[in-house]
Amino acid sequence: MQTERLKADSAGLARAAELLSAGQLVAIPTETVYGLAGDARDGTAVARIYAAKGRPSFNPLIVHLPDLEAARRIAHLTPQAETLARAFWPGALTMVLPLRQDAPIASLVTAGLPTIAIRVPAHPAAQALLRRFGGPLAAPSANASGRISPTSAGHVLDPDGGLDGRIAAVLDAGPCPVGLESTIIGWDADSPLLLRPGGIPAEAVEAALSRPLAHPGQDSGQDPDRPTAPGQLTSHYAPQASLRLNAATPRAGETFIAFGAPGPLSLSETGDLTQAAARLFDLLRQADRLGRPIAVAPIPDHGLGAAINDRLRRAAAPRD
Ligand code: TXA
Ligand code: MG
Repeated sequence: MQTERLKADSAGLARAAELLSAGQLVAIPTETVYGLAGDARDGTAVARIYAAKGRPSFNPLIVHLPDLEAARRIAHLTPQAETLARAFWPGALTMVLPLRQDAPIASLVTAGLPTIAIRVPAHPAAQALLRRFGGPLAAPSANASGRISPTSAGHVLDPDGGLDGRIAAVLDAGPCPVGLESTIIGWDADSPLLLRPGGIPAEAVEAALSRPLAHPGQDSGQDPDRPTAPGQLTSHYAPQASLRLNAATPRAGETFIAFGAPGPLSLSETGDLTQAAARLFDLLRQADRLGRPIAVAPIPDHGLGAAINDRLRRAAAPRD
């Protein structure tokens, strides 16, 4: 398959919508990372997503919708969910909510679960495509399973482990402004849970809800590539090179990713966590290409720093 590279202009959006309507896959920009989109109503299209990613099993996917009204047609929004939707949508927040019985969603999307993960993305190209296509789009991150999430169209098509030749098209709108996947919130009865730290700081979600988030464990098995045994981390956002975290200075032979200091590979010279999040996956790829072990400076563990550290711990975890 020849992967078409589409610009996010009117002609490109029309072509992307046409391919999606034909059950094909298109990698699309969102504010967080590029997603591998398929029609969430079409079981065959959804099956193609798993096949293209080489996912080991059918794990549930996030469904992308244009607005809150569309979300209400797919899932039951509890009062807490309505509060979060008003505070953070469109944006980098995903909520796991009870699936409506009448929702036109292929069962493979939810892997048969009674819940569904939904998100209203803010990226103008994602918004324009959702409106043009006129249906829900299932989209995991547009990387092969276990690889670093793509924050540019070039990453999606990376000859080393990318999806070139495995998907119909990529819609190129430049680099993703947030650069980290969405924050995923779920509920245990009435108690809100942080299922995955991400582009919206957990503290902001807690402030909007006026209550703390339970952390069911960073390795609770909610992520398809996360382990099910407690206390273990599997390799997920994995570069080829080994990764050493909380490194004050590099050792001989290491490539150093700096934070709060200048350097050829600095997440943020000024120590800005938003800038660091946006650069993280791109810098990991750049460092990996140098073929040496990678060391990363300490990142403060608050706000977006918690999500950055979560991704770094996964990238540093022992490989299968
Ligand atoms: O920023 C993002 O969230 C990106 C962009 C493309 O939207 N998407 C993304 O998707 O990161 P993915 O498939 O790589 O991660 C989806 C996560 C997985 O950890 C999955 O297990 C969880 O969402 N998930 C989906 N449905 C779920 C459900 N019903 N219950 C619990 N977890 C769910
Ligand atoms: Mg992913």
